[in-house]
Amino acid sequence: MLRVAVLGAGRIGRIHAANVAADRRAKLVAVADPLKGAAQELASRLSCEAALDAVSVIERKDVDAVVIGTPTDTHVDLLLHAVKHGKAVLCEKPIDLNLGRADAAVAEIERLRGRVMLAFNRRFDPSAQEIRRAIDAGEIGVVRQVIITSRDPEVPPREYSRHCGGIFRDMTIHDFDMGRWLLGEEPVEVMASGSRLVDPSLAEFDDFDTIMVLMRTASGRQCHINNCREAVYGYDQRLEVFGSVGMLLNDNLRPTTVKRWRKDETDARQPLLNFFLERYADAYRIELGRFLDAVESGQPMPVTAFDGRQALRLADCALESARSGRAVKV
Ligand SMILES: NC(=O)c1ccc[n+]([C@@H]2O[C@H](COP(=O)([O-])OP(=O)(O)OC[C@H]3O[C@@H](n4cnc5c(N)ncnc54)[C@H](O)[C@@H]3O)[C@@H](O)[C@H]2O)c1
Repeated sequence: MLRVAVLGAGRIGRIHAANVAADRRAKLVAVADPLKGAAQELASRLSCEAALDAVSVIERKDVDAVVIGTPTDTHVDLLLHAVKHGKAVLCEKPIDLNLGRADAAVAEIERLRGRVMLAFNRRFDPSAQEIRRAIDAGEIGVVRQVIITSRDPEVPPREYSRHCGGIFRDMTIHDFDMGRWLLGEEPVEVMASGSRLVDPSLAEFDDFDTIMVLMRTASGRQCHINNCREAVYGYDQRLEVFGSVGMLLNDNLRPTTVKRWRKDETDARQPLLNFFLERYADAYRIELGRFLDAVESGQPMPVTAFDGRQALRLADCALESARSGRAVKV
């Protein structure tokens, strides 16, 4: 049984901790969070230990692996500390906000032969997995275009916007990873456009709330990503992959499949699942399972720190393009 600690008892840490506690192959040893009461509340709900200091939890002899769900600017330090102590790591996205630091972390992980998985949870969504399987099986021939729509239901709190590194590194980072994964080739050029249509005050952080990105690979495959921080109808998550002999389309999920017909509406369905915690509940659970599989078997991690670095590089290119109005070579 793998003994796991979860660092960070916030929105995502609570999800990971509950999934560790529910997985029969793992034992949740402790949760750590410096915020008074945060770890304690989660620990008493999940019957594990609580700690204020993540570093000492990493160093515990009875911890084999850690899940990092702390703010982004703490990821690299915590993950390298864990690797140095021989612990396997599942680390939340983005790996860091600074490409130089991400590169140095990837090099250090390689040097120490660290076992690190980046938590790009959307790859583990059952529909995304089916799309990847269908591409691999040749069902749509050669991939030509990937179209990703990803819109949040509401803008994050202002404090979050202040520290998140901007929409490309915080939100589009998932889509950069998904784009790379589905294209099957590395993008070589990025063009992006950014607007402030929801919250003009984001100008204070030089950030955007509404973006479009176009990426092109060396062979000419294309990926289009569109994001908005606010969609009044809910969390909009759609994927389309177009190939030489077909197309794969993944629509939004709703709580049920029921449709309604009435005097003033037809084909009406329930609102979309509210946000990431609901929409990707299965993906987070499966992601953790794949992490535990890799740790147990010694097989390669399904998503690596290098994947985290590549997504960050694409985010940086998109930001440069949105600011300059020019296409940027990756
Ligand atoms: N994969 C996803 O779908 C997804 C979703 C949300 C957030 N995230 C990522 O997860 C990370 C956390 O985001 P969140 O929304 O849960 O934030 P949050 O603010 O809700 O939670 C972060 C928690 O970490 C704690 N913390 C701060 N420093 C710490 C340290 N050194 N050791 C231990 N705990 C520490 C904070 O007190 C807080 O409780 C971010 O990097 C974010 O990008 C990923």
